[in-house]
Amino acid sequence: MANTRKSSILVLNGPNLNMLGRREPDVYGTISLDEVEKMTRAHAASLGLKVDFRQSNHEGQLVDWIQAAGDHDAIIINAAGLTHTSIAIFDALKFAGLPVIEVHLSNIYRREAFRQNSYISRIAHGVICCFGATGYRLAVDAVADILASS
Ligand code: DQA
Repeated sequence: MANTRKSSILVLNGPNLNMLGRREPDVYGTISLDEVEKMTRAHAASLGLKVDFRQSNHEGQLVDWIQAAGDHDAIIINAAGLTHTSIAIFDALKFAGLPVIEVHLSNIYRREAFRQNSYISRIAHGVICCFGATGYRLAVDAVADILASS
């Protein structure tokens, strides 16, 4: 029997992204995380992909979710401030062994120097930044491409 299981993407959002729309709108835009989720989910569905969209302010929670990501086919992650500090998230992503797309809403290279190091980039298949919320849609396209060619 043909495998009819839909491919599934785990989309993870780190600290303070629950404040999206209200937090530094000049940097991150006015769209809320709920709206980003709807847009990401709708775009993934149009490509036949499922999305499991989550946010946490806690590093350990993100690590737990990554460790349990076995039912998914890829991870899209905006680790927010933890991008620049978390070896634990880097290690967990390495363990998960899934394709990883790193997303940032803002242009992290045009901002403070401490934002220019990303532990996630070392493990990521690709990095999308500077496009605001559209970056999540582009990340879904990247996942669709990777899964189609694997
Ligand atoms: C961010 C960039 C990070 O440097 C920052 O700490 C965030 C959001 C972005 O999406 O542009 O919280 O990941």
